[in-house]
Amino acid sequence: NKGKYEHYMQKEIHEQPESLTTTMRGRLIRGGSCKAKSVLLGGLKDHLRTIRRSRRIVFIGCGTSYNAALAARPILEELSGIIVIMEIASDLVDRQGPIYREDTTVFVSQSGETADTLQALEYALENGALCVGITNTVGSAIARHTHCRIHINAGCEIGVASTKAYTSQIVVMAMLALAIGDDTISSQGRREAIIDGLFDLPNKVKEVLKLDEEMKDLAKLLIAEQSLLVFGRGYNYATALEGALKVKEVSLMHSEGILAGEMKHGPLALVDETLPIVVIATRDACFSKQQSVIQQLHARKGRLIVMCSKGDAASVSVGGSCRTVEVPVVEDCLQPVINIVPLQLLAYHLTVLRGYNVDQPRNLAKSVTTQ
Ligand code: F6R
Repeated sequence: NKGKYEHYMQKEIHEQPESLTTTMRGRLIRGGSCKAKSVLLGGLKDHLRTIRRSRRIVFIGCGTSYNAALAARPILEELSGIIVIMEIASDLVDRQGPIYREDTTVFVSQSGETADTLQALEYALENGALCVGITNTVGSAIARHTHCRIHINAGCEIGVASTKAYTSQIVVMAMLALAIGDDTISSQGRREAIIDGLFDLPNKVKEVLKLDEEMKDLAKLLIAEQSLLVFGRGYNYATALEGALKVKEVSLMHSEGILAGEMKHGPLALVDETLPIVVIATRDACFSKQQSVIQQLHARKGRLIVMCSKGDAASVSVGGSCRTVEVPVVEDCLQPVINIVPLQLLAYHLTVLRGYNVDQPRNLAKSVTTQ
């Protein structure tokens, strides 16, 4: 049931304040006078000690699920101190890459039925790794075959392009990082700030959803373009990849997510006065580097659309010459949840304006059960 919405993708984008609330329900402990704020992930509690002792944590997934894991990687590294490796499921299987008994492998999949991810799971089980599942479907193959699991609880997603499952996956993996890091006193303050940020996140998502009309106007400007680049780094490298994936899969416009640190190693050659480029430059440790990327793209006459933190438009728009999109500020590791929303809205409006099927894009299936 689409309710007041015209399409499932639109409904699912706008449902994110509620889906995030459901994902966190019962899992965040508010703390009190003698009790610290913490996270409770029931499905993991018997395995946390093993996970903390593992040599590596290996994230494995495809498409949007891989991107969600990439968004959570920095906070997991920071709070756990464990090496975190990223693997695209098919590539791990193709290479028969090394997986050890001392590894914790984490399988991220909205459907829990993706053939490539399942095959990688079989491979990790054969190699004796601890296998953790993060899925949105109770009773799915990945949920059944992993040793322990966290349910995403985002609610059923019908649009083929994943939106609310993506943001809930990031939140689940941020909670995973908090749970693994829970025994470290030195990061207690940081963890509590993130937990406060999680409590407030649905409100901040409501706020960013108010950009709907602004993103529709931007879509009108971009409707006839051939291509769109999205530059990000740090926490928002994943946002660049995921934003580009959304645009290409539904609006059928070529789009590429680019790690801004790689700009001079090739992509800069593409920059001219016609190609539109989204630069994600919200406040975090990478902000000044992104300011310098903006200046360099501007010097080459790049057509820039800069996503920045509220109040920062003047400091990123090189004298008012770039279009800006201002988003609410949250804790740095949660910022990808906010920053993807305007790009989801842009992909949605571009598709509707271009007259394509937004809920069932050409050639794609919701659940990819064949290889
Ligand atoms: C894109 C999208 C896909 C899936 C991928 C993996 O919007 O949804 O990239 O993320 O096919 O699917 P799951 O998460 O079900 O394993």
